[in-house]
Amino acid sequence: MTTPRVLITGGLGFIGLEVAKLLVRRKYPVLLFDNLNPQIHGAIPDFCALQLLRSAQVEVFRGDVSKPSDWAAALDNVRAVVHLAAETGTAQSMYEISRYAETNVGGTAALLNYLANHKHVVCKIILASSRSVYGEGAYECSRCGLVYPPARSDETLRAAAWQPRCPTCWRPIDATATPEDARTAPASIYAATKLAQEDLVRVAASALGIPAVVFRLQNVYGEGQSLKNPYTGILSIFSNQLRMGKTIHLYEDGQETRDFVHVSDVARAVALGLASDGADGATLNVGSGKPTSVEQVALLLGERLGARTAPRVTGEYRLGDVRHGYADLTSIHTRLQFTPEVSLDEGLTRFVEWVQTQPVEPDRLDKATGELVARGLMPAHLPDDARADLTAKVQDHAHAKAASR
Ligand SMILES: NC(=O)c1ccc[n+]([C@@H]2O[C@H](COP(=O)([O-])OP(=O)(O)OC[C@H]3O[C@@H](n4cnc5c(N)ncnc54)[C@H](O)[C@@H]3O)[C@@H](O)[C@H]2O)c1
Ligand SMILES: [Zn+2]
Repeated sequence: MTTPRVLITGGLGFIGLEVAKLLVRRKYPVLLFDNLNPQIHGAIPDFCALQLLRSAQVEVFRGDVSKPSDWAAALDNVRAVVHLAAETGTAQSMYEISRYAETNVGGTAALLNYLANHKHVVCKIILASSRSVYGEGAYECSRCGLVYPPARSDETLRAAAWQPRCPTCWRPIDATATPEDARTAPASIYAATKLAQEDLVRVAASALGIPAVVFRLQNVYGEGQSLKNPYTGILSIFSNQLRMGKTIHLYEDGQETRDFVHVSDVARAVALGLASDGADGATLNVGSGKPTSVEQVALLLGERLGARTAPRVTGEYRLGDVRHGYADLTSIHTRLQFTPEVSLDEGLTRFVEWVQTQPVEPDRLDKATGELVARGLMPAHLPDDARADLTAKVQDHAHAKAASR
């Protein structure tokens, strides 16, 4: 029998390929299980230039994780599963609910169902979950301490009251690093499917006695991220627009923050989770541990790609988006001695060098936002006077609530 392999679902995707490259360097045989989703790969996927696929250690299986028969074929002689295959667009998930549930929840259920009912040699499962399961995540209130504000309502967003307030005393609050034991509160269908994946894996893996690690990835960016997919990947979307000479439009006031982690750091975390038992049974954040505003990242990218115009704040917003979020990395550091190595500065330079070797993709963001507007998930822009009225109303409400505590 040949050496047991590591199965990487979504192995031809952005993170999957990076994980595969690292594992091949470390001499693992890998099997990439992917359905070559056209939203990510285009109608005619092209992997001709990819050296990795010429390696004798790499096999590819074209299949769909939501099909039980495909798992039966893929899991032959597999000792570890790195489960990455998923539909990943937060906003798109709000109206493609069945598709997201079938791939993300159904796909994970099909994996576990196979393991529960058939002979196999799988002795590790690694699941890529997402920081989105936290919803808004952790904030500090000067009066109440650590708080977890609920998802922002359409009314507050229409009033441009972007910053969440303390759910108890309604005072202004500041985002802080979110630890893994924070309350989970998915604000999108995508996030709900990621949390469901986590629960399925935790319960089944424990019952089956298979060590499992759940990684909650923050905003992953880097070389290889699909430039074709207008539904996710903020840096890919911005870089397409910059290369076409367009102005980047920022939602809200551009001061919303994300934790941008380079894909090579994510691959290292996955490899550590595979090689060590230090994270077995754990749920761990993977990120840079630092917040960066979307405006800042647009400016840094614009500097590198020669932006003709400064980014423009639109005041538009999408239901389901969170305001802030960055990871507390204490647990992953303790369990796997993991520290991110690639700074945003260096990671963006690497990303831009790669982008410049790629064809300029048509900007399909208008199509993606049009789909949201048509469904009321991204309200059309309000006239300034209507927004000013609403803003005053929300501020009065906040003052009245804070004063009453
Ligand atoms: N990129 C991020 O910022 C980020 C953040 C948090 C979590 N994650 C998670 O990491 C994982 C990988 O994300 P990514 O950024 O590499 O996405 P990606 O879209 O680049 O890759 C996903 C891959 O899965 C494949 N796929 C989709 N549906 C499939 C199906 N039904 N059967 C088989 N293959 C299928 C796609 O063809 C693609 O190659 C996902 O689970 C995602 O939820 C990503
Ligand atoms: Zn408070």
